[in-house]
Amino acid sequence: MSGLAGCDVCLAGILSFRRNESDFNVMNPTASHPKILPATPESIRLASQALRAGKLVGLPTETVYGLAARGDQPDTVAKIFAAKQRPATNPLILHVGDPSAVRALVVIDSEITRRRFEAASSLWPGPLTLVLPRSESVLDCVTAGGDTVAVRVPAHPVALQLLREVSLPIAAPSANVSNYVSPTRPEHVIDGLEHSIEWVLDGGICDVGLESTVLSIANPNAPPTILREGVVSVAKLESLLGENVVSATTPHSAALNASPDTPAASPGMHRKHYSPRTPLRLVPEQNRHPCSRSPDDSKRVLRIQLRGPAKPIAGYADVWSLSPSGVPLEIANRLYETLRRADSGEFDQIEVDQLVTIDWSPDCNPNLLAAISDRLCRAANQDDVPADH
Ligand code: TXA
Ligand code: MG
Repeated sequence: MSGLAGCDVCLAGILSFRRNESDFNVMNPTASHPKILPATPESIRLASQALRAGKLVGLPTETVYGLAARGDQPDTVAKIFAAKQRPATNPLILHVGDPSAVRALVVIDSEITRRRFEAASSLWPGPLTLVLPRSESVLDCVTAGGDTVAVRVPAHPVALQLLREVSLPIAAPSANVSNYVSPTRPEHVIDGLEHSIEWVLDGGICDVGLESTVLSIANPNAPPTILREGVVSVAKLESLLGENVVSATTPHSAALNASPDTPAASPGMHRKHYSPRTPLRLVPEQNRHPCSRSPDDSKRVLRIQLRGPAKPIAGYADVWSLSPSGVPLEIANRLYETLRRADSGEFDQIEVDQLVTIDWSPDCNPNLLAAISDRLCRAANQDDVPADH
């Protein structure tokens, strides 16, 4: 995690640690498993052939690993839903290797939408997904029957190389079983989806570590609307688009409480999501004292701090810190990996600092903070408001 000197205000922070496209063939594999392939030109070719043949492949991106399949065939898309045990009402993002390839997937029939698309897509390749009216070529099963489609050009050299080689729209949700924690390393894909995938390309640890920002520009009569918070800031989007951008994600809306079978404006934003199996609750940062919970000596409780050096605290089996220096990009980057480690069976309960109880420096990206808070609340199935007691 080089280059993380302070709080980030915009995308520049993550772009600073984006790898060169030529780096992928010298990357060290981070794990050994017969299905994890070091990302060489040969393995990218193998993965491309597997995708074309209708197989599932673990795809590294700068946000999280994706579970990739060709998005132009109902049976390959069905394999994704089956492998993830994902409700068919939750639509998929189509990934392509070049912004120009998006044009065939969407309908841009108003001047407003055209202007918005051109401005927002200047962030591609990058951790931004755009929702637009779908073209006729897009399958119903990809959009869950809706009139819009989500599209993205990821900023990872291995993903770009693979997408350009396969030259088809690739559907790729996060490569985790539904409602579990998203994967940020190749071995996370193996854990849960080993028998569904042909290969995972080893693209190392994901730079961002949280899923892309989802921005809807589908309705020219409404402001551009963030449906899922990520690392892209509203300030950055507004400066590019030259207009107000609104967020449909905060405060937690009724959509969060909807049943997993109900289509919603942002169908993936059901309340319980990204959850470890070990019970997790959010507690005020100031409250690093175990008397806040009912004393139960038989429970091994892990405390995860968002920031500050981790020091032993009486009553906790262990204390970990996501970012000793308190940098939100680092917290985001380590969050999912840490939740997975915490979920190894060693602990009976996980307690994590509640993000809203912390005074963040005003130059921190508020949307990244909102994204971290959102994922934590979903992991805890709890709203991010200070507890009354
Ligand atoms: O960073 C990411 O976006 C990763 C990587 C692999 O690209 N992908 C990812 O996909 O997070 P998934 O399926 O786990 O999340 C996609 C989100 C869901 O919340 C889904 O409901 C929403 O995007 N989505 C997809 N199509 C949509 C549409 N047409 N309208 C509104 N929301 C949509
Ligand atoms: Mg997901």
